[in-house]
Amino acid sequence: MLNGKNVLLGVTGGISAYKAVEIASRLVKLGANVNVIMTKNATKLVQPLTFRYISRNPVAIDMFAEPESWKPEHISLADKADILIIAPATANIIAKLAHGIADDMLSTTALAVRCPILIAPAMNCNMLDNAIVQENIKILKDHKVEFVESEYGMLACGYEGKGRLADPEKIVQKIVNILTIKRDLEGKTILVTAGPTREALDPVRFISNRSSGKMGYAIAEVALKRGANVILITGPTNITPPDKAKVINVESALQMYDAVMSNALQADIIIMSAAVSDYRPKEFSQQKIKRDKGEITLVLEENPDILAELGKNKRGGQIIVGFSMETENLLENSIKKLKKKNADFIVANDLSKEGAGFGTDTNIVTIISADGEVKELPLMSKHDVANAIFDFIIK
Ligand code: CTP
Repeated sequence: MLNGKNVLLGVTGGISAYKAVEIASRLVKLGANVNVIMTKNATKLVQPLTFRYISRNPVAIDMFAEPESWKPEHISLADKADILIIAPATANIIAKLAHGIADDMLSTTALAVRCPILIAPAMNCNMLDNAIVQENIKILKDHKVEFVESEYGMLACGYEGKGRLADPEKIVQKIVNILTIKRDLEGKTILVTAGPTREALDPVRFISNRSSGKMGYAIAEVALKRGANVILITGPTNITPPDKAKVINVESALQMYDAVMSNALQADIIIMSAAVSDYRPKEFSQQKIKRDKGEITLVLEENPDILAELGKNKRGGQIIVGFSMETENLLENSIKKLKKKNADFIVANDLSKEGAGFGTDTNIVTIISADGEVKELPLMSKHDVANAIFDFIIK
């Protein structure tokens, strides 16, 4: 499955460093060529010799050791890598990578790679929770570094909380997913909407919702990786859009409607993951509304239903995917929505489940097709959900 793939496995000094041996072993069994880089601290926890035998390759530790070839080792390892996985990743390596610090073999190599980077953090729960560590993780995520989230459980330090290294099997699965990504959307144009809309009341205030845009941006990113041309029509978010997408920024539902309609014809697949506001204030006050009237009443008027409009004007062969957010009767309400809006698929989100919906990096969805096929997915990263949506549509 991973024949011909070069996996660079970085091991840092966490107690779970021994689990990296299992990761290396599983990767070798899948056919990958594994090169291990250890930090000095990691070598205090696991003998480099163990990794040498498991990976059948020399283990890199020292920047100034005599390289195997004329090229500096960190460059030759970086050049041939198809993926760099760091497991376990301590707060220290995360901080170094987030700020471009290169002071040992692993951090220097990480700056030189051009392949995807995957990080599996492991540390004490309070350290993981620390605002600076979280900021560093965010910086890396904004730079497209992928993460396998730490898990809850008993930690080596005696605490119980989030910070355990993810299960090696899960980490290896994620590596396989990244390395075997298909280019099955080559030549297709995908239009994705993301984020909330803002419906202005006056120059200062607006009505909006809690959508972060993470789901839509993940869809855009995955579509690009799978070879598609992507048009991303987005409401206001804090996320950096993928470089290669054509990005159209909008604020209101009406602006989103116009942008979608003028780009819909060229799209093979349209995915409406934006949380479009159903209503807008009927009156827009040119001046800031003053607090001098006592109680006031806001009159709202309906926004166009973009998804329904797309469903009505679907061109031959076009696939339209809607999202559905529900707090009760998920399946029943979502199937109703699919039929009413003439969509081909609905991705249903159950907002009552922890880990699903707004703002999170994960989601729990059920995908429903117009022919009645229902696929329930477990808790996954939004990135993996995006892949699962395309797998389902293409099938
Ligand atoms: N949608 C849209 N235009 C709107 C409202 C929603 O295109 N004015 C799309 C969303 O992008 C999503 C789907 O419709 O793909 C479902 O949105 P949801 O808010 O769950 O459903 P509504 O149709 O708004 O119904 P309700 O709020 O009554 O559940």
